[in-house]
Amino acid sequence: MTSAPSAVAVPNDLEAYWMPFTANRSFKKNPRMVARAEGMFYYTVDNKPVLDGTAGLWCCNAGHAREPIIQAIQAQARDLDYAPSFQYGHPKVFAAAARIAALAPGDLDHVFFANSGSEAVDSALKIALAYWNVSGKAAKTRLIGRERGYHGVGFGGISVGGMSNNRKFFGSLLTGVDHLAHTYDREKQAFSKGEPEYGAHFADDLERIVALHDASTIAAVIVEPMAGSTGGLPAPKGYLKRLREICDKHGILLIFDEVITGFGRLGYAFAAERYGVIPDMITFAKGVTSGTVPMGGVLVRKHIYDAFMGGPDNVVELFHGYTYSGHPLAAAASLATLDIYREEGLFERARGMESAWADAVLSLKGEPNVVDIRTVGIVGAIDLAPRADGVGKRGYDVIGRAFHDEGLMVRTAADTIAFSPPLIITESQIDELIGKLRRTIRAVAN
Ligand SMILES: Cc1ncc(COP(=O)(O)O)c(C=O)c1O
Repeated sequence: MTSAPSAVAVPNDLEAYWMPFTANRSFKKNPRMVARAEGMFYYTVDNKPVLDGTAGLWCCNAGHAREPIIQAIQAQARDLDYAPSFQYGHPKVFAAAARIAALAPGDLDHVFFANSGSEAVDSALKIALAYWNVSGKAAKTRLIGRERGYHGVGFGGISVGGMSNNRKFFGSLLTGVDHLAHTYDREKQAFSKGEPEYGAHFADDLERIVALHDASTIAAVIVEPMAGSTGGLPAPKGYLKRLREICDKHGILLIFDEVITGFGRLGYAFAAERYGVIPDMITFAKGVTSGTVPMGGVLVRKHIYDAFMGGPDNVVELFHGYTYSGHPLAAAASLATLDIYREEGLFERARGMESAWADAVLSLKGEPNVVDIRTVGIVGAIDLAPRADGVGKRGYDVIGRAFHDEGLMVRTAADTIAFSPPLIITESQIDELIGKLRRTIRAVAN
C-alpha cells in the first residue's frame, strides 16, 4: 500500500469547473470528491475508502494503481513524450494495434486509433461512409442506430444514439439517420439472469427500415452488444446473430460499439466473441488502457481496410485522424494493461465469476421499489420505481447516499442503478458491494 496523506487539500472555490453530465449546483454543495485510488478502492480527500462499484466509468477493468501500468506510463513520458500521428509513427502504437487486433475475432485485423469512445464512434461512422464511397456505392449514406443506444457525445454519436436528453438540446443532428426499436420489454424479460430468452425478433425491425429506405441508401447499423448507459440491457438471446444475418442479406455494414463491453466486461476480449458474431467494425476505448490514459479506436475487417488501399501509394487514404491518435503514453499504457489482462487471466476470471455475480445481484430482488434487475458479464443494473414527485429523484438520492453513507461508487441513469466493478473484484468484495447496495436501496425507500 502506498503511503498517503491523511487529507488532501480541496480548492475553496469549485465554481470554475463546469462538470460534464453532472448536476453541478447540487454536487458543489456536497461534493463527492476522490483523491486517490488503489486496487478496488477510491479514497476520498479525507482518506475514507470508497468501493469502486463502477470501474470508474466502466473503464478501470484491471483495478487502480497497477504498478506495471504506472511504470510504463512514466518510462514512456521520459523516452518519447509525443510523436506526430500524421505521416510519422512510433513503435508502441504499431505494437498496440497488433495486440488489440490479435484479441479480436475473425479478420478484424486493423486498428484506427482515437482518444475516446465518442471519437471512436465518429471515426467508425465516417469509415463506413467513406468505405461505400471508395467502393463505388456513394448512395449508401444512411446510418442506423437504436433507441436507448448510447454512442458518446459527438454529433455522429448523438445522431445514431437513442437517448432523448442527449439529443433534444442540440439541433437537427446528422441527417439521414434512423433507429431500430430497442430490445427491452419488462413484462417479458424482468429478472432474467443474463441474456433474456425473449426478444431476438427485435432485430427484424431492420427489415422495416430497409423496406422504408431501401438497402441501396443504407451504409451501416451501429448497436451496443449490451446497452450500457440506458441501464445495462443485455442483447436478447439470438438477437445479434439475427441482426448480422439481415445486414448480410442487404449488404449493410454492422458496427458493434464495444466501448463498454470490450476488454473483459462480458468475460471475453470482445462481446463479438461471446455472441459468435463478427461485425464489420468494433469501436473500443475505456478498458484498452484500464482508464489510465485516454485512448479509443476502431477495429476494422480486412475487406474494409483493403478497400481504401487501391489508389496511388503517395496519397492519404483516409482523410481523418486526431493529433493524439495513438499517443505514446496511451500506447504504452495499453500494452502494459493488455499484459495484465493476459497474465492475470482477467477475462476468463470474469467469465468464471459471472454466474455467482448474477446470483448475488439478483438477491436484491424483493428489496423496496426494485422492479427489475438485469445482469450480464460483470454488470448489474437495478430499476427502482420512480418517486411520485418525479423520475430520477430516487436515483439521484442513491448516488449521494451510497457515496457518503456507504462508501460505494455506483452510477445511475434516472432511477436505474448500474454497477460494473473492476474485474479483480473478490467474492468477499462482491458480498460487500451487494450489502452496501441493499442498505442504500432501503435508505431511499421513501
Ligand atoms: C457504448 C459507448 N459508446 C461510446 C461512449 C463514449 O465514450 P467517451 O465518453 O470515451 O467519449 C460510451 C461511454 O460510456 C459508451 O458507453
